[in-house]
Amino acid sequence: MLTQIIIIFIILYFARNIYQEFFSNGTNPLSSTEEKDSTIVEGKFTPKTLAKYNGKDSPKIFIAVKNRVFDVTQGAQFYGPGGPYENFSGRDASRGLSKNSFDTEVLTPIDQPIDKLLDLTDVEKETLDGWEEHFENRYKIVGTLEENKD
Ligand code: HEM
Repeated sequence: MLTQIIIIFIILYFARNIYQEFFSNGTNPLSSTEEKDSTIVEGKFTPKTLAKYNGKDSPKIFIAVKNRVFDVTQGAQFYGPGGPYENFSGRDASRGLSKNSFDTEVLTPIDQPIDKLLDLTDVEKETLDGWEEHFENRYKIVGTLEENKD
């Protein structure tokens, strides 16, 4: 009898863990995005479709770094309207980050092909890699950046 009770408790314990795993969403990198804005479909962005995630046209702020799109909404004090790095919002920030520049002119216009960054110096590549690591540690990835369709 006691053995049966113990077995039932063990089963209940595992069932609870499995339930939490599935429904807490704690490990799902998209959960916060999906909770707050169900219209965002994870996956593919183009320079043009990324542009609206600038904290003005959408409350969400996304930034692309080396063709991966990060949700930087948590860093709205940096990237939101009036923030010091708002030029990066909704944009491929790679070249600006590589050159430690927040000049809008450094970034490729959204109707142009994606910047291949082929001319960067070794130092600029390292700088960009450092920023990439910063974004990986701090923000969730919501998709990839691909060429405009038109
Ligand atoms: C004028 C000199 C600058 C000062 C005083 C400055 C200051 C700061 C400070 C205090 C932070 C916050 C650090 C933290 O809490 O993690 C920060 C973060 C940052 N800075 Fe600067 N910065 C300067 C120049 C630049 C430039 C030229 C760039 C252009 C690439 C830049 C890009 C960034 C980025 C991307 C972050 C990370 C924000 C985040 O965590 O999302 N900064 N800066």
